[in-house]
Amino acid sequence: MRDRSQETKHGLQLDRVVLLGRTFEEYRRYFLLEPDDLTGKKVLDVAGGVSSFCAEAHNRGIKVTAFDPIYSLAAEKIRERSESDLESVYRSIGRVPTYRWGFYKNPDYMRKLRERASAIFFADYSAHPQRYAKGEFAAIAFSRQRI
Ligand SMILES: C[S@@+](CC[C@H](N)C(=O)[O-])C[C@H]1O[C@@H](n2cnc3c(N)ncnc32)[C@H](O)[C@@H]1O
Repeated sequence: MRDRSQETKHGLQLDRVVLLGRTFEEYRRYFLLEPDDLTGKKVLDVAGGVSSFCAEAHNRGIKVTAFDPIYSLAAEKIRERSESDLESVYRSIGRVPTYRWGFYKNPDYMRKLRERASAIFFADYSAHPQRYAKGEFAAIAFSRQRI
């Protein structure tokens, strides 16, 4: 019998890094952050993209600088790319068998969170451009290895 275990293990297959943004709450859960411990501290968000982490963290008194090559672009260009990436991920993600929907519930709710994050990002990117540093982290391709 054909072994299909490898096929079903695949998550979402992407041919490049997509430009999507997560919220502060998603970062908190992923990285097990204790926001109260970070108040007043400086934090660098490498590959911040269109996440609202930087904006929301500042509202809590955490001094975040977000760092990403996309910050060399004007807001409209970033918006164009992120909207098109969100559309394409939204269309594909419901078909991914390995995706766990516990937190996100369904593709529509996931999309709402991404839209919320990017709306907060765009407002903050215009109002506080100094929080967003353009640049590329050379070692990011090796982030699965211990660096
Ligand atoms: C899926 S987004 C994640 C954004 C954010 N960290 C989040 O979780 O919402 C991936 C981001 O990685 C950025 N990126 C890709 N290569 C990078 C590099 N070499 N250095 C810094 N950022 C990079 C992309 O521009 C994109 O904004």
